[in-house]
Amino acid sequence: MAHYLVTGGAGFIGSHLTEELVRRGHRVRVADSLITGKRSNLSHIPDVEFLEGDLADLEFARRAVAGCEYVLHQAAIPSVPRSVKDPISSNRANVDATLNTLVASRDAGVKRLVFAASSSAYGETPTLPKHEEMPTQPLSPYALQKVIGEQYLQLFTRLYGLETVAIRYFNVFGPRQDPSSPYSGVISVFATALLENRPPTIYGDGEQTRDFTYVANVVDGVLRACEAPGAAGQIINVATGGRISLNMLFEEMRRLVGADVRPAYEEARAGDVRDSQADITRARELLGYVPTVSFEEGLRDTLNWYRTADLAAQ
Ligand code: UD1
Repeated sequence: MAHYLVTGGAGFIGSHLTEELVRRGHRVRVADSLITGKRSNLSHIPDVEFLEGDLADLEFARRAVAGCEYVLHQAAIPSVPRSVKDPISSNRANVDATLNTLVASRDAGVKRLVFAASSSAYGETPTLPKHEEMPTQPLSPYALQKVIGEQYLQLFTRLYGLETVAIRYFNVFGPRQDPSSPYSGVISVFATALLENRPPTIYGDGEQTRDFTYVANVVDGVLRACEAPGAAGQIINVATGGRISLNMLFEEMRRLVGADVRPAYEEARAGDVRDSQADITRARELLGYVPTVSFEEGLRDTLNWYRTADLAAQ
């Protein structure tokens, strides 16, 4: 049994990590500001220590990290358009809080810190799939902040010997992803619209593509990254390795739900990336990772969850 800190543990991905760690018998502390996370995401998980606060405050970061061997740093304001609209608060959550968590982890002698990095780091690179050796090209404040986070991790490994791993997530989806904000992940937004027979909005022509990754695959990749010997100091894509256009995603979801609606098209979002698809060779080699849940299976599970979830009570 080890002691884990999950920052952002009341959020979508953080709560899935917390659930799996508890299931495996580990001790888990969650630190969350509840800006985008919700206590209700954890209510079904027993024995989780919960600390509410802001990691951009160094003293809170120190309290959060104290006594933990592993830090899964998931806390963030995870939205491209929100960062375009308000780069300062997004920077505070995505950069200041990350630096504090690194400093606190270094000083507390943490064994390894695993960071939620992002596929947005790649921007519009001409080749697909995107592999970790490609130069980064951030197209939004969010993407830049996530790249800064990765670089801080690597610097802390070199300068202070703190073991770190940056896992680049590719459009993660699944149960508990909050559909209610204008910045919510597209699958959560489409799911709730289709289940209510409302037409969803597609930004741009809908031919942009994404490597949508079911959350259980991400949990598996991150937990492997805590222990894999060769992972320290690395940046690693964790994804499914395929890609689908927004138009095809809409059609597939419409068919599964059985809704009779057409999407409304609006102007493309500023900072939006055209195509995204991961090369997952490094994750396979360093982590022994293979996606265990396919996109189709994940999509069906996710729709089932939105069908039965009482979102108003969340
Ligand atoms: C980006 C990152 C992802 C990161 C996420 C955080 C890329 C390739 N991916 O996701 O790694 O974790 O930010 O939020 O940069 N869309 C619609 N209708 C909607 C909502 C969205 O058409 O109602 C479109 C968007 O314009 C975009 C796609 O769907 O083209 C996906 O959007 P979203 O789910 O917000 O994620 P990304 O911005 O791609």
